[in-house]
Amino acid sequence: MNSVNKITVGLLCGGRSGEHEVSLISALNIFNALDREKYKVAVIGIEASGIWHLCWDDTFVLDHRDIQQSSLDLSKPIVVPTLNGEMIEKASQKCLAKIDVFFPITHGTYGEDGTIQGLARTLNVPYVGADIVGSAIAMDKDVSKRLLRDSGLPITPFITARTPHTISFEDASSHLGTPLFVKPCRLGSSLGVSKAVDQPTFEQAMKKAFQHDRKVIIEQAIKGKEVECAVLGEKPPKASQILGEIIPLKEFYSYEAKYVQKDGAKLLIPAELKSEVAQNIRQAAVSAFTILECEGMARVDFFVKSDGSFIINEVNTLPGFTQISMYPKLWEASGFSLGQLMDRLIGLAMERFEKEKQLIF
Ligand SMILES: Nc1ncnc2c1ncn2[C@@H]1O[C@H](COP(=O)(O)OP(=O)(O)O)[C@@H](O)[C@H]1O
Ligand SMILES: [Mg+2]
Repeated sequence: MNSVNKITVGLLCGGRSGEHEVSLISALNIFNALDREKYKVAVIGIEASGIWHLCWDDTFVLDHRDIQQSSLDLSKPIVVPTLNGEMIEKASQKCLAKIDVFFPITHGTYGEDGTIQGLARTLNVPYVGADIVGSAIAMDKDVSKRLLRDSGLPITPFITARTPHTISFEDASSHLGTPLFVKPCRLGSSLGVSKAVDQPTFEQAMKKAFQHDRKVIIEQAIKGKEVECAVLGEKPPKASQILGEIIPLKEFYSYEAKYVQKDGAKLLIPAELKSEVAQNIRQAAVSAFTILECEGMARVDFFVKSDGSFIINEVNTLPGFTQISMYPKLWEASGFSLGQLMDRLIGLAMERFEKEKQLIF
């Protein structure tokens, strides 16, 4: 493919979320995996304040070896996105790139919740991954659980709170038992998640969760293995042949266990499961993907009990792509390289865009 025919990918990363740094590292891996015979890659790094910067090489992220220390290089030109993907440099008013497809790898708030997907749609540019509705639903642990429950899929018993005083520890524990998990409804990477065992830890947990979200979910603690399945939005969607297991070495799979502590968690690929159980999980992952209106990709996370029964914990529409992330690893273990995965995700985004062009509004 000559340079004229190459697709220009706008790799969106960073963003206004607690997962800003994780996103930069995910973006670096995607940047390296995209086939340069097929794609030109413009990295669009979004500052925590929301300002966009454009860069054509891998120097957009500083100190990438340590996630906590990694940061966006703010010296790259500031750009403003305009219709049909033209990126206009703020200082010179010149068009620095024309994006053919956005690849948002902006985990969390404003990036995974339908916000940036809505912007891409407004700009008339195809984008990888779930559409607005799927992104918004999957991001919301309360709405997604209600939809999954409605379809008969197993979920964790839960209560939703819209103010810190909605429910006391006594009421929550009498309905759900102890310990309890308290979480912001629409966050990721375990930010704001706590385990509560008594009145004081419950109050602390509620306070912490409400610092991140106006809506908080209180769940029964589930005893079981944490198993993850990768789904790709083919028509029909397909689950990875291989599943993975997370073994948190501390209390639970916290942000620190995920990204900070060297020994925070172990990944077991493939997960140790009876083949019949694995098959049921793969089927449930595809059902959850469909029920929550996901497209492109998602990682579906489960708790698997000792008797082989399982519960769906959550669905992530922009799963991590760091070196330790399960989604790309599961596809690789299932015989699909990161480069091939990128081709398919971009292909699906383009196909959706072409189909929508035919629609009459
Ligand atoms: N109901 C639960 N029972 C047991 N462990 C839980 C429960 N909910 C969350 N956890 C633990 O907390 C981690 C983060 O919770 P999760 O719902 O996955 O939030 P996030 O979207 O931030 O990843 C899980 O990976 C698991 O280790
Ligand atoms: Mg999770």
